[in-house]
Amino acid sequence: MPTKQSDIGLIGLAVMGQNLALNIADHGFQISVYNRTVEKTEKFVSENPSTPGGLVATKTLEEFAQSLARPRKAIILVQAGKATDAVIDGLAAVFEQGDIIIDGGNALWTDTIRREKALKEKGLLFIGSGVSGGEEGARFGPSLMPGGDKAAFKHLEPIWKAVAAKVDKKTGKPILGAKPGKPVKGGVPCTAYIGENGAGHYVKMVHNGIEYGDMQMICEAYDLMKGLLGLKPAEMGEIFSQWNKGALDSFLIEITADILKQKDPVTKKPFVDVVLDTAGQTGTGKWTSVNALDMGVAAPTIAESVFSRCLSAIKEERVAASKVLKGPKVKKIAPAQKKALIQAIHDALYCSKICSYAPGFQLMRQAQVEYNWKLNFGQIAQIWRGGCIIRAAFLQKITEAFAKNPKLANLLLDSYFNKTIQKAQANWRKVVSLAAENGIPVPTFASALAYYDGYRSARLPANLLQAQRDFFGAHTYERVDKPRDKFFHIDWPEAHRPQLEA
Ligand code: 2AM
Repeated sequence: MPTKQSDIGLIGLAVMGQNLALNIADHGFQISVYNRTVEKTEKFVSENPSTPGGLVATKTLEEFAQSLARPRKAIILVQAGKATDAVIDGLAAVFEQGDIIIDGGNALWTDTIRREKALKEKGLLFIGSGVSGGEEGARFGPSLMPGGDKAAFKHLEPIWKAVAAKVDKKTGKPILGAKPGKPVKGGVPCTAYIGENGAGHYVKMVHNGIEYGDMQMICEAYDLMKGLLGLKPAEMGEIFSQWNKGALDSFLIEITADILKQKDPVTKKPFVDVVLDTAGQTGTGKWTSVNALDMGVAAPTIAESVFSRCLSAIKEERVAASKVLKGPKVKKIAPAQKKALIQAIHDALYCSKICSYAPGFQLMRQAQVEYNWKLNFGQIAQIWRGGCIIRAAFLQKITEAFAKNPKLANLLLDSYFNKTIQKAQANWRKVVSLAAENGIPVPTFASALAYYDGYRSARLPANLLQAQRDFFGAHTYERVDKPRDKFFHIDWPEAHRPQLEA
């Protein structure tokens, strides 16, 4: 048992918890660990006897609290919801004024707001931190999005900055190569204080919503290459590898290339061909979409990616429908046009991606008004540059856009993104048309294009819609020839008004 008190503690030794604890210990911090099932704690600590900082096993929450230097800092990594509340209650009973609780789980941001308020009343400080990057990220450098008490974060900051993923200061490229006991040195850490109470968990949720969009868009590119060009998975894997060297350079494109080249160990067929086409979800994409609807912000590409998973999940119903519902016969593209079409799909993917991230940032912009946060969008993009699932070269362009104009209303208005879409939109439109003509579903490519066309429309057909509302519900309308916020109503012909049944 070490004589000094630990720098920090961690509760919840599932894979994420174990990996983050090892990452913290690798950076020379002594860390106490606690798990509801004590055997797990003992096994974990005995299997990792010589980390640079040292792991300290504790069997009870009292022992855990006593082992920590003040102000005590405890990271919770258990399931979101009830388990998190149970652990917080347990900690609140053994912690003292000024101690700090950090929830690193995927909490709903409104839960984080509630918990921070309740703990503050007890004199305890609370930080809700998004942790992204999965198991690998937690072990060797996650993207960390902390929100909550700013003064409390000062105590956590040295540890968070040490363990976070690092990117190159000039290029923004992730610095890779961390090994157990040998973390990477230098670089800009992918973490920064996000904002008060639930801001960190909110931003993490939007990250996940954007991730849903990215994944679905890649799937549509794959489906188009398969359907229109009849390409085999390994060939497509090569194309994704090529794409990963250009503007689309990102973690998800890179792993897609690897996945498409992978063979099934049992049948030796391409692995993707033996995976059933039903997608699961844990809820953060849905939360993002529900919140977009609640706040009245158009984020169609993210929502479409959630709906696409829902549609994929009803496999049996789709198989039955496929025997009844007819679409067009797919017209295979001539080999001479193959190269041009692959480029067009690339461009459609890139443009759709821009039109998925743009609403993602608009969501955060609206949320900061609703919750009185001051978010730094360029910095958020920078934090996502390394460690997390959506890490991509593209995010550097977003950081640059907000550096040029912190008040940018929409990413589409930034000159880089504007020019990129100008150049690529003919290809994007061609791909969406071809998909429609051939009956290949491209919900995110098409909704992203509709978002683009809607956003750039000075006049939408909502004039007719508002007239309809005025007709049947006397909802009133504004006029093109009068100032905004002056409302009018006309007397519609009685004959066409809805009549109540006698
Ligand atoms: P366990 O090993 O005792 O099951 C992820 O499931 C982690 O959350 C595990 O470490 C698990 O502990 C912990 N966990 C789940 N529910 C919990 C609860 N109600 N109280 C404390 N820890 C919990």
